Formats: sequence, structure tokens, C-alpha cells
Amino acid sequence: MSVHKEVKKVTTLTLSEMKQHGEKIAMLTCYDYSLARLLDEAGIDVVLVGDSASNVMAGHETTLPITLDQMIYHGASVVRGVKRALVVVDLPFGAYQGNSRKALNSAIRVMKETAADAVKIEGGAEILESVERILTAGIPVMGHLGLTPQSIHKFGTYSVRAKEEAEAQKLKNDALLLEKAGCFSIVLEKIPATLGADVARELRIPVIGIGGGNGVDGQVLVLHDMLGITQEFTPRFLRRYLNLATEIKDAAMRYSTDVKTGDFPNEKEQY
Ligand code: KIV
Repeated sequence: MSVHKEVKKVTTLTLSEMKQHGEKIAMLTCYDYSLARLLDEAGIDVVLVGDSASNVMAGHETTLPITLDQMIYHGASVVRGVKRALVVVDLPFGAYQGNSRKALNSAIRVMKETAADAVKIEGGAEILESVERILTAGIPVMGHLGLTPQSIHKFGTYSVRAKEEAEAQKLKNDALLLEKAGCFSIVLEKIPATLGADVARELRIPVIGIGGGNGVDGQVLVLHDMLGITQEFTPRFLRRYLNLATEIKDAAMRYSTDVKTGDFPNEKEQY
């Protein structure tokens, strides 16, 4: 029997049971009501209101500029479209680092003002105090290790992380720390597949990969990338399921032609 097909509402407990039953978890990002409804109806298990909204919704180069208020706007919109999936909202850059009290306040605002189910934050030992403080309020926390885009200026590159033994070891230690602190799941971004599989095997909580190989407990992609709306971004881990950029441009061009030639609206399309 499949755990995820049985449940009316996906919870952190559902994800834990899915891992125990060896059932993979399907997660996608989303930032608005209309697409959230479609993803939920399609049976996606986890909808992540990622701070990648900064890139794909607002056109910024990095995830750093997006604010807590903007994440709350996106989060509340997504929650209104979702009945079944677990909704996780990213805490943005500046909302939790180096100040656990601020982290708790940010997480409480997200939970109160969006009605989401959980928050996600990037980092390991450095942000452990913030993770622990958020958890004291009963707010579920998803971790995020490997390539953590909010630290892009420290890394200086978006290339694969933890290829060297020292960084791989730190990632494993951080994953264990986050699990011990009480995180319900961890995202691993752009790391060697063998390392992803090792971490997933060692942890009891589900490990969701994005460029983390096939040995983890689930996968996440940025919605605009997998739908082919973004065109420039072509990492190896990305599988495109549609080429919406072409289809949307084609539809807009046909509409424009119909308007300019007077073909639209026709008799049946007016009152
Ligand atoms: O913001 C985001 O889209 C993310 C995913 C890449 C996991 O954090």
C-alpha cells in the first residue's frame, strides 16, 4: 500500500513514513495560487515556496534581495491553492542568520501570516542555534546543505559542492546535527551522488535532492526550470518536462496577430 496515496493531507509524519516504506517524495517549488492548485491536484507531495522566487519571479541574479514580506506574500498565495501537499516556505537571507531570536520571529511570522506547514533554512552548524530556537515554538524545520544559494558570495561559484573530503565530512556532520536538533527533512543541493546516497542512508529523516543523485529519498526542482519557462539555466541535474517558453511566446505572437488583423474578437466572442 502506498503511504502517499492514502493521506488526505501530507504532514511531516507522512514524509517520515514514506522514507520508511522506501517511497520517493516528489517536491516542486511554486510561488503563486494558480500553479499551486495544479501541482496539488497532480499529487505533488511537497510544495516549496523557495526563495528562488527572487530569481524566477522577480528577475534578480541571486536569492539575496527577496524580503520576508515578499516570501510571506508568495507563501500565503500558494497555501490558498493547496489542499493536500505539505507547504514549506523558505526563510530568506537576513531573516535568521546570526540571530536566533530574529529567526524565531521570522518563522512565527511565516506560520501566522501564510498558514504554511513548515519553514526551510540554509546551513549547518553555523545556524544550529536558530534551528533549535525555531523548533522550540513547535515549527517544523527543513534543512538545506550543499550548494546553499544564500551563501553564493562566500562560495563565488554555483559549481558542485563537497567534492573534497573535508567539505563532504562537514556536510555529513551538519546533516547529523540538523537531524539531532529535530529537523524533519533536509535538502541536499548539487553534491556528488555517492555523498547524497551516504547521507540518506545514515539519516532517519527524508533527504530531498536537487542535483544530489538518485540515492536520496526524494527530488525537488524549480518549477520554472522543469516547465522550460527559464531557458538560460541548463545544469546537468535539470530534466525539462515542457518547453513552455516556446509555447507561451508562440501563443502571445498568435494573439498579437489576431488583434492586429481584427480577427479577434469574432462574432461569437462579443456581446
Ligand atoms: O529556493 C529554492 O528553490 C530552493 C530549492 C532549490 C531547493 O531552495
